[in-house]
Amino acid sequence: MKKRMLIGFALLAFAMQTKAQMQPIYLDETKPLEQRVEDALSRMTLREKIAIIHAQSKFSSAGVKRLGFPDFWTDDGPHGVRPDVLWDEWNQAGQSNDSCTAFPALTCLAATWNPAMARLYGRSLGEEALYRHKNMILGPGVNIYRTPLNGRNFEYMGEDPYLSSTIVAPYVQGLQSCGVSACVKHYALNNNEKDRSETNVIVSDRALHEIYLPAFRSAVQNGGAWAIMGAYNLYKNQHNCHNQYLLQDILKKGWNFDGVVVSDWGGAHSTDEAVRNGLDLEFGTGTDGLTKNTSNAYDNYFLAYPYLQAISAGKYSQDELNDKVRRVLRLFFRTSMRRDHPYGFLCSDAHYKAAREIAEEGIVLLQNKNNVLPIDLNRTRKILVVGENAVKMMTVGGGSSSLKVQHEILPLDAVKARVGTKAEVEYVRGYVGDTGGMQDGLSTGQNLKETRSAQALIDEAVQKAREADVVIFFGGLNKANHQDSEGDDRTDYGLPYGQDAVVKALSQVNKKVIFVCISGNAAAMPWKENVPAILQGWYLGSEAGSALAAVLFGDVNPSGKLPFTWGQKLDDYGAHKLGAYPGVKRANENIVDEEYKEGIFVGYRWTDKEKVQPLFAFGHGLSYTTFKLGKVQADKKEINKEDSISFKVNIQNTGSRAGAEVIQLYISDLKCSLPRPLKELKGFRKVFLQPGESRDVTITIGRDALSFYDDRISAWNAEPGEFEASIGTASDAISSKVKFTLK
Ligand code: BGC
Repeated sequence: MKKRMLIGFALLAFAMQTKAQMQPIYLDETKPLEQRVEDALSRMTLREKIAIIHAQSKFSSAGVKRLGFPDFWTDDGPHGVRPDVLWDEWNQAGQSNDSCTAFPALTCLAATWNPAMARLYGRSLGEEALYRHKNMILGPGVNIYRTPLNGRNFEYMGEDPYLSSTIVAPYVQGLQSCGVSACVKHYALNNNEKDRSETNVIVSDRALHEIYLPAFRSAVQNGGAWAIMGAYNLYKNQHNCHNQYLLQDILKKGWNFDGVVVSDWGGAHSTDEAVRNGLDLEFGTGTDGLTKNTSNAYDNYFLAYPYLQAISAGKYSQDELNDKVRRVLRLFFRTSMRRDHPYGFLCSDAHYKAAREIAEEGIVLLQNKNNVLPIDLNRTRKILVVGENAVKMMTVGGGSSSLKVQHEILPLDAVKARVGTKAEVEYVRGYVGDTGGMQDGLSTGQNLKETRSAQALIDEAVQKAREADVVIFFGGLNKANHQDSEGDDRTDYGLPYGQDAVVKALSQVNKKVIFVCISGNAAAMPWKENVPAILQGWYLGSEAGSALAAVLFGDVNPSGKLPFTWGQKLDDYGAHKLGAYPGVKRANENIVDEEYKEGIFVGYRWTDKEKVQPLFAFGHGLSYTTFKLGKVQADKKEINKEDSISFKVNIQNTGSRAGAEVIQLYISDLKCSLPRPLKELKGFRKVFLQPGESRDVTITIGRDALSFYDDRISAWNAEPGEFEASIGTASDAISSKVKFTLK
C-alpha cells in the first residue's frame, strides 16, 4: 500500500513538472511581463495580430482564441459601469444584471480635495467592473475646465492642473488594483463639445504643458495608467487619435507610456496616420464609406483589412504593428489574463457607502448668511421644497456616462425621510425644465409632465413660500442636450427654464431661501445677494438625496471646495473675454480653428491677473464650524535647485462642530523672464478636526513646484530668484505668506 502511494506521488510530481515545462512562457505568471509579451507575440500570425488592434463590437475587441486569450471587454465610465448595449448598436441589451452603483460625478470627486476619496472611488468602481466582466473602464476624464459652457465639464476634475493631477492618480491606482484598466480621456485639448470632431486647437506650448497636459501625465507617471483615450478634436491639424506630437513625441517617447492608446469612438480617420502616429486600439469607427456591404463592418476599420492589405502589399513592415500588438498584449496580461483578480461586487453596501462618503465630502457650501444652514428642526415647522431637480433622476442622460442604477435617492424623498414627523414638508414644482429622461433606449420611467403655465407655477410657489419657515430650491442644470451633456455645449451662462424669476419671487416673500445647485458647471446667479444660502450639489449618483439631506440638516459638516472658478458672467473667463470660444470655421474646409488666446491664464490664473472678482473663487467652500490658521513658516530661507522646502502652519477648529478644512498652498514666482500667474496651487491638505482641536500641518514642495514650461528651450525651467508661498483656505482667502529664494 505504502509503495503504491509512493509511486502515485512520484507520478503526480512528474506530471506536474512536465506540465510546468510544457507551459509556454507567456502563460507562466512567474515570468517577467516583457518576456511573456515577446513569447506571445512570436506565436501570433499576422491575422491574429491585426484582429486584436481593433473593435469587434461596440465595446469589445478580440482576444487570441488559439492561444487562450479571451475577448477584451470595455465599458464607460467614468461614474459607474454603463449598462450593456447590443453587440453592434447603442441600444440597450436589456440585461437584468447591469444595474450599477452610480458614484458622484468627477467634478464632485475633485471638490473633495481628498486623494483618499479618489482611491476609494477607483477601487469601488473596479469591483463593480469585475462583477460585470469588464477589463477596462473608459475613464477618468481630466480635460481642463476652460469654459463653463463645456457640456462635459461634469465628467472632469476642474480647472487646475495640480488639483486634477493629484486626484486622478489614486483613482487610476484604485481601479487598476482590481486588474481593471483605466482609460484616461480625452487626450488632449478636448475642452468643449461644440464641433468636437472638427475643432483644431491652436495653443502655445507653454499652455499645453502647464495647463492641459499635467493631469494626463500624472495619470500615466504617478497613476501608472495602462490605457489612454485619444480625443475627437485636432491639434496641429492632425486628429488626436493619431496625432504624432501628442501620442508619439509626448506620451510615448516623452513620458515612456508603455500602455495602449485607444481611439475615442469614431475618432480614427486614416489608416496611414493610425499606423504611424501611435493609435493602438481602434473603436467605434463609423464604417460608412469604408464598407462595400461586407458581412462584418469591423473588418473595414482603419486598423483592420486596410492595414492588413497594406502590409501584404509591402507598404509597411511589421514594426509598427508589433509595437501596437505588444502594447495590447501587455494590457491583456494586466487585465483579462490575470488570475489573481479580487472578487467583483455589484451594488454592495460598501459601494453605496463609498458613493455617499464621496458625495458628502464633495458638496460645497458656497454661501451661508445668518447661518441659515444647517436647518434646525427644533425651530422649523414647515419646509417648502421647490424645483424640478428635487424630483428628477440625474443618472440617466448626459451621453456616454449615463447609467442604469439599482437606486437613485431623490432629494425630495431624502428630505422627507430625514425630517420625518418633526416638521411638515411640502413640494411644488416651481418651473418646468426637461421632462425627458432617456438615453440609448433606457428611460428613467419618470413622468414629469406638467401643463400649467410658468406664471401659475411661480404663483403657487410664492403662496406656499409665504407660510414656510424655510424654502429649499433644488435647481441648476440637468443632463439634457445643451445642459451638462455630451455632444454639444450650453448656449447660455444663465440658469435655464426661467429659474431666476422663481428664485427672485421666492426670495421676496421668504428670508430663508436655500438654493441647491445641481450641476457640473458654474452658472450666473443674479439673485445671489438676496438668497442667504447656496449649496453646490453636483450630480451625486445613487446616494444624491441622502448626501444632500445630510448636509442640509447638519448630520454632515460640508467640506468640499470648488475645483473651478465660478464667474459672475461669461467674460470672467479668459476664453470668453478674448473671444476665443467657440472656434472659427475655415472657409472651404470642415475644420474649426479654436485658438486658446488666453494661454496659461485659465480660471483663477485669469481672474487674478485681470483683478476680476468672481462669484465664488477657486478653492472656496464654507463649513458649519470655524477654523483659525496660524502664520506660515518655511523651514529654509534659501534653497538649491535640487532641494525641497517645507511650509508649516497651525490650524485650529475654533467652532463647536467637528469639521474639515483644506489648507491650500499657492506659489508665486516674484520675478521671471516670462509672464507667470500671480499664484499657482502647488500643494494642499485636507485636515479633519474635532471642536477645539489644533494641528500643525506641513506641506513640502520640490523644484517642480517652482518651474514653468519654457517654450524657448522646450523644457521645464525654474529661474533663480525670489518666490513667495501663500497659505489659505481658498484662492481668494490667503491668510499668510512667506518669501524664499531659489539659488
Ligand atoms: C465618448 C467617450 C466614450 C465613448 C464610448 C464617446 O462618444 O466621447 O468618452 O467613452 O463614446 O461610449
